[in-house]
Amino acid sequence: MAGVDQRVVIVTGAGGGLGREYAGLLASRGAKVVVNDLGGARDGSGSGSAAADGVVAEIVAAGGQAVANYDSVATAEGAASIVATALEAFGEVHGVVSNAGILRDTSYAKMTDEQWDAVLRVHLDGGYHITHALWPHFREQRFGRIVVATSTTGLYGNFGQANYGAAKLGLVGLINTLAIEGAKYGILANAVAPIAATRMTEDLVSEEVLAKLPPAFVAPVVTQLLTEELPDTGSVFVVGGGQVQRVQQFANAGVTFAEPPAPEVIAERWAEITDMTGAVPGVNPVG
Ligand code: NAI
Repeated sequence: MAGVDQRVVIVTGAGGGLGREYAGLLASRGAKVVVNDLGGARDGSGSGSAAADGVVAEIVAAGGQAVANYDSVATAEGAASIVATALEAFGEVHGVVSNAGILRDTSYAKMTDEQWDAVLRVHLDGGYHITHALWPHFREQRFGRIVVATSTTGLYGNFGQANYGAAKLGLVGLINTLAIEGAKYGILANAVAPIAATRMTEDLVSEEVLAKLPPAFVAPVVTQLLTEELPDTGSVFVVGGGQVQRVQQFANAGVTFAEPPAPEVIAERWAEITDMTGAVPGVNPVG
């Protein structure tokens, strides 16, 4: 199998926006795609089958293979049902794009527990449930490809998106460990922070900027990360508007103390502690 040809890939939240683009490009390259979408509004309210059905119809009309699923990624039952759809339709499953998402933007001062929980449930719990349901299958067949949708909001922050940013960087924490635990089973896990014109971003930036950000610029990178050929794992890519970028955490040498230092000594050495000159990719010292 080369590329994603004959691979079975689940794309969550594929009824529109980026997920639709991922599903379409994957199918055009021979993948068998499970088009999952709850079919709700941008804030996660409502549900329906039309979004997923529409994308499946587009793929089939173009000569591709796809099947729809309307379950929510936010529960273990929903995720199990999505995996069951893949197995019933195609008999196996090789990869997943954990892409489903919602927004409940508000300043932190005004954020309610409900807004926090709703966003964490779909993005972070959703990423957990779908990859956890797939994990035994991937381990058993000694092959799996995981791509999670993170965000520059998680990596760098954005006003009004504390819930969303926390969920999105949580997914990077998830793939960092899945990359380690999956290595000996041929399971690779990466994250893509897309930047694209969809209903999620339509009122956040100007039309002029949106015109430069078609989802088509993101899908080729996601597709490639689902192939057997690409060896990368535990990596984060920012992709949009034609730019494809890798993002990584760096650490400086810091300062090492032989004895517990007095707080005043920390203050004296603070400039050295915070200076990032000569920083190198960080590694987990307790891993
Ligand atoms: P979108 O709103 O068009 O797509 C999200 C899809 O997920 C929708 O079709 C929605 O129905 C579905 N969905 C929501 N909750 C679900 C659930 N519980 N179960 C199953 N499906 C569910 O937005 P877009 O922009 O295509 O977003 C896709 C992903 O990319 C999201 O995770 C988003 O956070 C992420 N992202 C997008 C950026 C952008 O510039 N568009 C920037 C950074 C991240």
